[in-house]
Amino acid sequence: MDLIAVLDFGSQYAQLIARRIREAQVYCELYLHHVPATEVIQPNLRGFILSGGPASVYEPDAPKIPEYVFQSGLPILGICYGMQALTHQLGGEVSPSKRREYGPAEIEVFRDNPLITTERQSVWMSHGDRISKPPADYEVIARSDNSPYAAIVDLERKRYGLQFHPEVQHTPGGAAILSAFALEVCAAKPEWVPPSIIDESIHRVRNQVGDQKVIAGVSGGVDSTVAAALVHRAIGDQLTCVFVDTGLLRAGEPEQVVDTFQQTIGSRLIAINASEVFLDALQGVTDPEEKRRIIGEKFIRIFEEQATKVDYPSFLLQGTIYPDVVESRGPGREVAAKIKTHHNVGGLPVDMAFDVVEPLRYLFKDEVRAVGSALGIPDNIIWRQPFPGPGLAVRCLGEITIERVALLRAADKIVTDELGAAGLLRGETAQAFAVLLPVRSVGVMGDQRTYAETIIIRAVTSEDFMTADWARLPHDILARMSNRIVNEIPGINRVAYDISSKPPATIEWE
Ligand code: XMP
Repeated sequence: MDLIAVLDFGSQYAQLIARRIREAQVYCELYLHHVPATEVIQPNLRGFILSGGPASVYEPDAPKIPEYVFQSGLPILGICYGMQALTHQLGGEVSPSKRREYGPAEIEVFRDNPLITTERQSVWMSHGDRISKPPADYEVIARSDNSPYAAIVDLERKRYGLQFHPEVQHTPGGAAILSAFALEVCAAKPEWVPPSIIDESIHRVRNQVGDQKVIAGVSGGVDSTVAAALVHRAIGDQLTCVFVDTGLLRAGEPEQVVDTFQQTIGSRLIAINASEVFLDALQGVTDPEEKRRIIGEKFIRIFEEQATKVDYPSFLLQGTIYPDVVESRGPGREVAAKIKTHHNVGGLPVDMAFDVVEPLRYLFKDEVRAVGSALGIPDNIIWRQPFPGPGLAVRCLGEITIERVALLRAADKIVTDELGAAGLLRGETAQAFAVLLPVRSVGVMGDQRTYAETIIIRAVTSEDFMTADWARLPHDILARMSNRIVNEIPGINRVAYDISSKPPATIEWE
């Protein structure tokens, strides 16, 4: 499959560049700017993109474009710092600027070229230094009021430089520019589509695993489900999935996970109902960290007990996706190649070491969903919102009892059912759920005085879950949720809507 390599010079937008190229159905990978040629140069490589970055070419340790990029003879697109480094290394001039240009700008394109095909367009600038003289052989193809060299090109060698950022949404025509670079300038074939992603993953998994066995812990989340489905396609019954029902899952989830693995994916599945073990261990515990510790420990113990039922598994399946890989790279942050799990239970091996299989390692979340759909995984798993590992225990403040968890589960179902019916569950709200507070207040129902606990409805919008805002849900939907919760769930007489953003609050309550 054809490949475009993005050399990352430290840009906060590097992942976006890769995503835009992949949206053009061309495979694209991110590399740190100093990787050796042996890691990047390969027969299917069709072009380089040099990202932006915080450095200035005049700093003593400013990162350089590796020589192999020029020697390859492949097309190059330098963006912002990438353009400045290109200019500097090819004998042009970059001038330091006292003031950063940050924000929208209008460019005028006055030279026909395959990259930017509109005469004028709005673009996003974010740069300090700028080009004061392009290298010899370069022509100017676009300018803006502040940047006389907003875009330059060496048409013969197919080398482009852009002062602005085509990868961000604030450059509305940017996706077309990056797509034109991949498809027209580099002539890469648009083969990055679910069927070929699936074929490639299957091939990779088979090569890695051979005839060894793989075990997987599955939770019903989109990543672990799609990962398992891919590996099952690759190696069939060499894969065994283990599903632990902690008793802390949402309404209908255990049944749905079992059904999906048995009917749709068709993999071997060990499903354990361990609700009692978890609820017993959590009795009387109210401290949130202690709850997490107990659940984590029990989970590993049960998982390992089940793993011993599989003869000599060599691999553990992980649902790691591309953003996790990219974010954990860099000096001192290499992704761990081996995972070890430890436990302290007599009679079992002291520790078990597995190699990891990571079939989603090269996929962005939207690609995981597209692959999952192509594999026939149902929509309610594909679009499942993030759910914490410790499950409803996180959202059940105070003591965890079977009754309180049941009550929270019923309220959560009402919240998600109502949002689903209104078409607000897929991306419109990044996360929406109910929280049970151990706070009683006086109420009145019929002629009866009540003294009962409180449900909080939490719904947020968020791009990355690092920051979030409370969702402006329509009042009539909130009203319906509230009515249904107090009428259908005995033990709740008050419902409140959380209007805190993150920060200062968090998304979860715990
Ligand atoms: P907070 O509450 O920190 O949550 O704003 C940010 C995101 O992380 C999710 N979350 C978890 N996900 N295991 C997970 O896989 C966990 O233990 C966990 N705790 C929080 C949370 O749902 C939100 O999406």
